[in-house]
Amino acid sequence: MNLLADLADLRQQCQTWRAQGLTVALVPTMGFLHAGHLSLFDHARGLADRLVVSIFVNPTQFGPNEDLDRYPRDLPRDLELARAHGVDLVFAPEAGAMYAPDHATWVDVPELGRGLCGASRPGHFRGVCTVVAKLFGLVRPDVAVFGEKDWQQLAILGRMTRDLELGVTIVGRPIFREPDGLAMSSRNVYLTPDERASAPAIRQGLLLVQQAVRGGEVDAAKLGLMFRSHLAEKLPMARVDYADFVHPEALTPVARVDAPTLLAVAVFLGSVRLIDNILLEV
Ligand code: PAJ
Repeated sequence: MNLLADLADLRQQCQTWRAQGLTVALVPTMGFLHAGHLSLFDHARGLADRLVVSIFVNPTQFGPNEDLDRYPRDLPRDLELARAHGVDLVFAPEAGAMYAPDHATWVDVPELGRGLCGASRPGHFRGVCTVVAKLFGLVRPDVAVFGEKDWQQLAILGRMTRDLELGVTIVGRPIFREPDGLAMSSRNVYLTPDERASAPAIRQGLLLVQQAVRGGEVDAAKLGLMFRSHLAEKLPMARVDYADFVHPEALTPVARVDAPTLLAVAVFLGSVRLIDNILLEV
């Protein structure tokens, strides 16, 4: 497995592969890899001849009061895991190499980025789109794989890729969970033992709503209340940032759950913000 930090080296290697007629898959990450990331690698491995993984804690997608400085990092461990999962090349640049001091170009999909996480993290998706567009430009992958845990991110990147004709096939993969249902996240390590023990209540709340929808309830306001009261009871230390019912692609609010609808939630446990979602089947 090859480890590169230099942008020109990355471009060169990917160009060589393409010249040999090999296809390339890309999985962008911010590292501190967990089984959710690895499930993306395993899937991507089967989609192309070469698998590139980027590990880059992208400063432009963090707000001024967010956890950029304390975002967990462990490159040696990440490299071991990547190697074990058949990654051909890990690209781990320095922030100064990715962003020139006079970097001035931003990619934004405001229409899809206003609600959900975009509302509580202004500028976040602009940073995500910009770094992913740069990675696409460097690697020029045939296919890129993203997790449905970050549903809004996946929807936005799909739209960006389509609107800008970037020629990359975007593949979404299901949320990988701990055995107790908690969605895997690099941020789970911040939870106190108490918070960690109660955190599966988020997933249980989503399943409760799914059950109610199957039972015929269509009123999103009522269903939202059901989720919130479940959390208030099972996870009293939590603060719900949002629990929104939206159209799965347009991400516009939905009042009646009478067609497939995404319930997306973000919950603060102390200073840790956890997200999860469920595609409600009617
Ligand atoms: P990061 O949070 O490291 O996630 C990298 C990829 O792993 C994303 O596509 C994310 O949706 C996916 N992922 C995370 N947890 C998952 C889980 N439990 N199950 C399945 N997939 C999961 O998302 C980012 O980094 C960044 O915004 C990035 C796209 C790399 C741009 O900087």
